[in-house]
Amino acid sequence: MNYKISDKFKNLKPSAIREIFKSLGAPGAISFAAGNPNPDSFPVSDMRRIADEIFSNESVAALQYGITEGYTPLRKLVSERLKRVYNIGGPEDDLIIVTGGQQGIELTCKVMCNEGDVVLCEDPSFIGALNAFRSLGAKLVGVPLEEDGIDLAALEAALKANPRAKFLYTIPTFQNPAGITTSLEKRRAVLALAKKYDILILEDNPYGDLRFTGEDVPTYKSMDDEGRVLYCGSFSKVLSAGMRIGFLCADKDIISKIVVAKQVEDVHTNNFFQMICAKYIEQCDLEAHIAEIREMYRKKAGLMISALEKYMPEGVSFTRPEGGIFLWCSLPEGLSLDEFVARAGEKNVFVVPGTAFSPDPEAPNHSFRLNYSMPTDEEIDRGIKILADIARDMID
Ligand SMILES: Cc1ncc(COP(=O)(O)O)c(C=O)c1O
Repeated sequence: MNYKISDKFKNLKPSAIREIFKSLGAPGAISFAAGNPNPDSFPVSDMRRIADEIFSNESVAALQYGITEGYTPLRKLVSERLKRVYNIGGPEDDLIIVTGGQQGIELTCKVMCNEGDVVLCEDPSFIGALNAFRSLGAKLVGVPLEEDGIDLAALEAALKANPRAKFLYTIPTFQNPAGITTSLEKRRAVLALAKKYDILILEDNPYGDLRFTGEDVPTYKSMDDEGRVLYCGSFSKVLSAGMRIGFLCADKDIISKIVVAKQVEDVHTNNFFQMICAKYIEQCDLEAHIAEIREMYRKKAGLMISALEKYMPEGVSFTRPEGGIFLWCSLPEGLSLDEFVARAGEKNVFVVPGTAFSPDPEAPNHSFRLNYSMPTDEEIDRGIKILADIARDMID
């Protein structure tokens, strides 16, 4: 058959990361490619007990259709935690449970953008969001990231050049892929620019709970007093990614439209896991659990940074994240990223090339993403040494 795939989808490539996963089965493979939380962070025994309890006492609620906005006890618990931990949520705000933050991002674009509308995003940015925007016919305009967040001059130039920009998609805290956290000064300046050019901000914060060093920085949403910021969060990195539970907090006028869009997509998020998530928060100590994850990632990030410092040749630079699960490594300009990634793959070490995270995948790129949440301590040291040897060989 000669299938006539839609214009929107015919040029959309599968996620480079999911493709790399296919090569990971080889014995001895070291993957710095995934974005997965470490499985030691899954509270399995608590969840098993809670699952039993749900099927013993509330099986109908778990197995029947639910409401699109989400399981009411979970919505309340998430709203309370957002207020308590992040000072998020005013009288005009509402909150919907979504099927992973991924769906919150996609639904936002679906509800806000007409085909051809511009979405501004950091360059590099989260591939899942970029592909969601692409799949909806939005035009991506990337704004370079600096060490302390988005480049303000470039953002203003992009805003001037794109009067049809609908929103800025940003991951201000422990950014995926760069591991960068936007400073408070920049956050204030970005909010001021958003106001000046009258665009919305979609703040994506799935890693915000995972700070292992430094001081918290207020979220955009907590600084917004006019309903300009939509805030997307997730339990993927603190409880379980397979549970697929995220949330979107925004002005109720937007959430009411998101509810309609979600009804079309999947009616509601899986009840059983919403109930597990709610009961976990009620019965267990989520904050203590998160503190343990932070400690695990603090150690792993520290090991990776030490290995990079020890082995990488001069000319290779890398970010030093204060939380989250990624750092961003840049080869000297002029070195072939494709060759580097291919040679690493031949040695059974997998990284994701920066091109995968670029709003413009054809643009020259000499960076790659390193994940430290998944590899073992031994793999971190051995894998970074292999990468460093390849970089040195290519530089010499
Ligand atoms: C920046 C960012 N946003 C959103 C997501 C989506 O997470 P989920 O759909 O699992 O909540 C991810 C997942 O890796 C991410 O890195």
